[in-house]
Amino acid sequence: MHIPPDTVSLGDYERRFHERVDPAIQAYIAGAAADGVTQRDNRLAFDRVRLMPSAFADFAGASTRSVLFGEVLESPILIAPTAYHKLVHPAGEIATAQAASLTRTWMTVSTQASVAMEEVARASSAPLWFQLYCQPRWEDTLTLVGRAEDAGYKALVLTIDAVVSGIRNIEQRAGFRLPADVRAVNLDGFPPTPPVNASNGSPVFKGMLDNAPTWATVQALCRQTRLPVILKGLLNPADVSRALQCGVAGIIVSNHGGRTLDTVPATLDCLPGIVEAVDAAVPVLLDGGIRRGTDVVKAIALGASAVLLGQPVLHALSVGGMPGVAHMLTLLQTELEVAMALLGCPTLDAIDRSRIWVPLNGA
Ligand code: FNR
Ligand code: LAC
Repeated sequence: MHIPPDTVSLGDYERRFHERVDPAIQAYIAGAAADGVTQRDNRLAFDRVRLMPSAFADFAGASTRSVLFGEVLESPILIAPTAYHKLVHPAGEIATAQAASLTRTWMTVSTQASVAMEEVARASSAPLWFQLYCQPRWEDTLTLVGRAEDAGYKALVLTIDAVVSGIRNIEQRAGFRLPADVRAVNLDGFPPTPPVNASNGSPVFKGMLDNAPTWATVQALCRQTRLPVILKGLLNPADVSRALQCGVAGIIVSNHGGRTLDTVPATLDCLPGIVEAVDAAVPVLLDGGIRRGTDVVKAIALGASAVLLGQPVLHALSVGGMPGVAHMLTLLQTELEVAMALLGCPTLDAIDRSRIWVPLNGA
C-alpha cells in the first residue's frame, strides 16, 4: 500500500478512500442514515464555531496530556468502535491496533470486529476499550464482558443508540453485503438472532425486544463488571441523571456518525447540554465529524475530555494500512498541537469557553 505524498490531511485520506474502495463497501462505511442530515450537520456544527486566540501564553512544559479514568492519556484523540475493519484491509483490526500502539492512541474495539478481541489485545500495547452490543441472551452478553475483562480491556463502551439499524438507504441502493470472509467473529457460537415473524405485530419493534438495553441492563452491567462502563450515544440531558444513578463512569455524546436516527442534532450542538447536566460527575467524550485539530479544540472548549474518530480510521486503513492509520493519527495530533500553539493554550485545561468567539449579535 502506498500513501501518496499529497496526503496531508484527514480529508485527503477520505478522497483517496473514495477513489480506491469498492463502491458498495464505500456505501456501508460512508453511508449515513436516510438523507444524511445529521451526518452533514456533525461537520457543519464544527465549521460554524469560530475560535478566539489570546496572545503570549507560556509554552514551557506544554502538552496534550490529561488523566482519564485514572490513566495518563497522552492525546485526547481516541479511536471509536467501528465494525469489520477487514472490509478495507486484510489484517483488519490488527493493523489498526498496531497503528494505535505505535502512536499510543487508545482504541475501542467493536463487538462486530472482524478479528477476535483477544487477538486484537495481543497485537496491542496501548490501552483498549471494548464496545458492547447487548446480545439476545444476557448470558452471551456476560460472556463478551468476561472475555474483555480477561483479555485486559480497560473499559466497556455500551452503545445505546442503535437498538435497531437505522434507515440505511445509501447502503441499500449500493447493494452492500458482507463478503464471505468478513464476519463478526466475537459472536461465533452465539445462537443467531431468530427471524422476526411479522405476521403478528411490527417486525421493527419485535426485533428490538431481544437486544435493546434498558436502564436495568445498564445498572446490572455496572454491578457485574469491574470495568468502568461508558455509555455511548447519549444526546438528551434529561437522560443524564438516570445514567449517573446506574453507575456509569463516562458518557460519549454520539449520534453514531449520523448512521442511526437521521435529523437528531449534531454532537457538538448537544455537548454543552450534556456537560451541564453531568456537572463534572464523570468525563464526557464526543464523536462525530472530527476531521481537524481545530474540531478537537472546539469539543474540548465546550467541555469534552476527549474525542473519538470513526470513519477517518477506516479511510486511512484502506489507503495506507497500518502506516496509514499511524500517519493519519499523527497528522491530527500535529493539527491539535498547532491549534493550541496558535490559540495560546499550552494545556488542555487552558482550552475553555473563552476560546470560542461569540458573535456581536449573540447568535
Ligand atoms: C460505526 N460506529 C459504530 N459504533 C458502535 O458503537 N459500534 C459499531 O460497531 C460501530 N460500527 C461502525 C461502523 C462504521 C463503518 C462507522 C462509520 C461507524 C459509530 C462510530 O463508533 C462513531 O460513533 C462514528 O463513526 C463517529 O463519527 P465519525 O468520526 O465517523 O464522523
Ligand atoms: C454500524 C453498526 C455496526 O454503524 O454499528 O454499521
